[in-house]
Amino acid sequence: MSARVLDGTAVGQAIRADVRPDVEAFTREAGRPPGIALVLVGNDGGSELYVGSKLKSASESGIRADLERLPATASIDDLLQLVARLNASEVHDGILVQSPLPKSMGPDAERRVFDAIDPAKDVDGFHPVNVGRLVQGRASLVACTPSGVIEMLDRAGIEIAGTRAVVIGRSDIVGKPMALLLLNRHATVTVCHSRTRDLAAVCREADILVAALGRPAFVTQAFVKPGATVIDVGTTPVSDRAVIEALFAPGHRRHTAFEKRGTLVLGDVHPSVEETAGALTPVPGGVGPLTIAMLLKNTVRAAQERLRARQA
Ligand code: GUN
Repeated sequence: MSARVLDGTAVGQAIRADVRPDVEAFTREAGRPPGIALVLVGNDGGSELYVGSKLKSASESGIRADLERLPATASIDDLLQLVARLNASEVHDGILVQSPLPKSMGPDAERRVFDAIDPAKDVDGFHPVNVGRLVQGRASLVACTPSGVIEMLDRAGIEIAGTRAVVIGRSDIVGKPMALLLLNRHATVTVCHSRTRDLAAVCREADILVAALGRPAFVTQAFVKPGATVIDVGTTPVSDRAVIEALFAPGHRRHTAFEKRGTLVLGDVHPSVEETAGALTPVPGGVGPLTIAMLLKNTVRAAQERLRARQA
């Protein structure tokens, strides 16, 4: 059997098409477009790429997107000052500080910065107030990657209520909010991590298996119940030829891509899982495009809620 491929690029486009009329309606009513500020500290190559595509997608959707840059030598206080200015800005409904931050800012820099963002503008859904609302099942701004996964399942007609869902990974950004979203949709949820015993057996119980651990090709067929839906959140750049060649034979589309670029982004799911799963998200082109689409959706939502709060 060959799994149904869940096309994140198409779903991402569909979400963006749904966002457009909301952007237009908001712009008419407020006399300005929804606005997002993207904060980039330093010049990490991956972050430059991510932020570039977020800026492009936002402006294509009619959302005002401003890039705020700080040098790698900036202090945490410089960054907190910038966040305070953006919190007070009338034209910015959303603030996204791209992670990772430079190591020189200290081990707790991200937490301090995310905590400083006005929860009403927290389009990443990382602020403890928004996480708390998610726990209580009354969230408005939820982390983009896990909420994108729910959109993907819904649009693919994959049932969540009553199913067994297993999430591998317990990060604040993906694993935990993913588990909460699935629970709020009435799945029976198990969260696995590095200390889980007999991980493969636990995962084999899953009707919906979400892999978000950041270890390339870790989830093999032994982890997957035949017919299960497998969501691959992993995106690890790999340039080790031996790793690539163990996964893809010469002539395979991905092997050829590696030959061309010398590096390949790998998911957490082994390619052979395609033969066991009922449905599967590819990497790239699965969950990735959904994250950006959900960021736009969150920005419009933040803008609408800020407008309503002013009118109240
Ligand atoms: N770095 C990688 N993904 C993300 C994300 O979703 N939000 C932020 N702020 N930084 C990231």
